[in-house]
Amino acid sequence: MENLSIGDYKLTTIDHFDENMVMHKIKLAYQFRDGFRMHYKRPVYCTNLFFENSTRTKTSFEMAEAKLGLKILDFDVQHSSVSKGETLDDTLLTLQALGVDIAVVRHPQNKFYRSLNPDNSMGLINGGDGSGQHPSQTLLDMFTIYDEFQNFANLKILIAGDLIHSRVAHSNAKLLKKLGAQIFFSGPVEWYGSEFDQLGTYVDIDDVIDQVDVVMLLRIQTERFDASQNDLSVDQYLSKYGLTKQRAEKMKPTAIIMHPAPVNRGTEIEGELVESSASRIFQQMTNGVFMRMAIITDILRTKGLIESEEFNESAN
Ligand code: CP
Repeated sequence: MENLSIGDYKLTTIDHFDENMVMHKIKLAYQFRDGFRMHYKRPVYCTNLFFENSTRTKTSFEMAEAKLGLKILDFDVQHSSVSKGETLDDTLLTLQALGVDIAVVRHPQNKFYRSLNPDNSMGLINGGDGSGQHPSQTLLDMFTIYDEFQNFANLKILIAGDLIHSRVAHSNAKLLKKLGAQIFFSGPVEWYGSEFDQLGTYVDIDDVIDQVDVVMLLRIQTERFDASQNDLSVDQYLSKYGLTKQRAEKMKPTAIIMHPAPVNRGTEIEGELVESSASRIFQQMTNGVFMRMAIITDILRTKGLIESEEFNESAN
């Protein structure tokens, strides 16, 4: 197993990822699924700073950290000195001074990591920055797609919904394009951005639903715009832009449905399709734990904290 180069103790974007790097992470995630485990030179400390709410990403990282045998320090943003005006940079410098080895940060500000002190050598994982990127979600989505199709280059992928506000759309489209997939975008035109022009083709969902291999749905990100300015009702949204049962019936028999969740059942997808045989929505969550174990492990390898690695089939 190759190690990452020095400096890769931070995962802030997927911009530098190529196919080799994606496949390295996927193979490592498979290894964790099969019982790979780590031994450390000393206790390793981690914490998770979520400045935006989360069910999946925070709990998934906590599960990955627990399975890896790390010491998890609780960090409650609401009860921290952030309320007294402490900057994110000072918070992270403080955590490093206290001996934390690796932190996961979710923050509403796009590219929050750009304003951080470059001398802070603590491991850092972007758990989602505003409408910027969601690197760990993107890598778990690549794992889920690869697990299904064993390739990316021959796939047609539809990313549908609230594109401009979605960090998942931004990072998934960028990486899928690099991996050779053909990408289509659909949804309200006011939620389509010119940054997607170079990555794929903007279409009506009904024009491609019978051709694509993956239907990747997005949540309407009401926290990122004034929803009262939007005159679309929920019913109209589902029938114009969402995955209805009628549309799902037109999908190829081998096609899958993905959604980063949380899901607005009845808005971007008809409720019962969430548990349909084509849906991989809960599988994405399961895969996410193993991918996050891989992401953390590569950082700990780079930081030289791993003593030895072994397979133990009862580990997971
Ligand atoms: N997919 C995702 O990021 O979900 P959470 O917002 O619940 O973490």
